[in-house]
Amino acid sequence: MTTATSNTAPGTGPAGGKPVRQTDYDPMTTPYGVNENDFPWGGPADEQAAFLLRYAILAPSTHNTQPWKFALVPGGIEVFADYSRRMPVVDPGNRELLMSVGAAIFTLRVAAEWFGMECRVTYSHSGDSERPLAVASIARREPPAQGDEAIASLFGPIVRRHTNRHPFLYSRVPEAILRRIRGLEIGGQASAAVSTDGSVNSQVSELVAAADRMQLADPQFRSELAEWIRPNWTQKSDGITGAALGMNNVASALGSWTTRVVDTGSLRAAKDRNLCAQAPVLVVLESEDSVPHWLACGELLQHLLLVVTREGLHHSYFNMPVQVPDLRVRLRALCGLSAWPQILLRIGFSLTEPSKTPRRSVEEVLSGPVI
Ligand SMILES: Cc1cc2nc3c(=O)[nH]c(=O)nc-3n(C[C@H](O)[C@H](O)[C@H](O)COP(=O)(O)O)c2cc1C
Repeated sequence: MTTATSNTAPGTGPAGGKPVRQTDYDPMTTPYGVNENDFPWGGPADEQAAFLLRYAILAPSTHNTQPWKFALVPGGIEVFADYSRRMPVVDPGNRELLMSVGAAIFTLRVAAEWFGMECRVTYSHSGDSERPLAVASIARREPPAQGDEAIASLFGPIVRRHTNRHPFLYSRVPEAILRRIRGLEIGGQASAAVSTDGSVNSQVSELVAAADRMQLADPQFRSELAEWIRPNWTQKSDGITGAALGMNNVASALGSWTTRVVDTGSLRAAKDRNLCAQAPVLVVLESEDSVPHWLACGELLQHLLLVVTREGLHHSYFNMPVQVPDLRVRLRALCGLSAWPQILLRIGFSLTEPSKTPRRSVEEVLSGPVI
């Protein structure tokens, strides 16, 4: 066993599949070009496990911080939170950070299932940042046995899923899809509530607008947000491009600066109120507040997003009232939830394709002992 730093020789060994030289790596396109035909069928287990990570890194994360790290160990992958990427103002308890890690874990499960592997995930509750949050044991099914086809069917949407902040069509979402969403849950720890009730959604939109005004009036909130906004031509491998937020090239060049210095709370509140009130469907993910519940909620989030992407639907987030404690209490009451709201989403159809966001390479997020 050898020890690798977080910068294992780019594109070799643990990245799996065809070598990708760092100079060739474009954070906006390379990660989405992952090709299932490159799976190293005849390669060693660690190379196969590393290939699965090429899908896990496409998971959504709060502000595209990608707050995850992985280590290849005999029999599987250890999953860590990268607390150096936390957002202390908007996410002081690391709730969204841990949901992001949960989303990456679910993506790993789907990829493993697709390539005929059994993936068992054990969460660790230690709370020690040096220890893994979860261990994914990965083994080939021998002889090849029937896996979980429903999970494997979510593989295709992994590369197609993007957050879409554009207006959605008014078209109704088929009831069968809503039933499917309501039926999703992760180990009884997290579940999804769906609202198509215009009156409820309109009241929720007022909470979203109130949260926008409160948050954007706070210079510390704006500074933190600004750190993760990138121009459209960025070569950085994290953060959100202006294009993904609906900005043209010129606006995106100034996006970080204007976010830092100008309180756009009223404008943003008006825009979000409309988008939220007019959304064909709002979905609230709910769970108790604890590390394993947040991980489970992140898994549920990615499960739901891959299902809706597979069905040709789009999604975006209105988490602002979940991030403001008083408004979170009101949102819980308004939606009649039995646990705490963790994520507020809208889903619907859109004719506008969303922009991609960059990703760090697998080599950048692999650390710790490598076989
Ligand atoms: C836990 C979590 C919270 C998020 N909260 C918001 C949010 O409040 N507003 C928003 O516009 N996007 C939110 N996002 C979406 C991220 O910004 C998005 O996933 C990231 O920029 C990567 O882009 P992609 O989803 O298109 O791959 C959230 C994502 C996660 C996983």
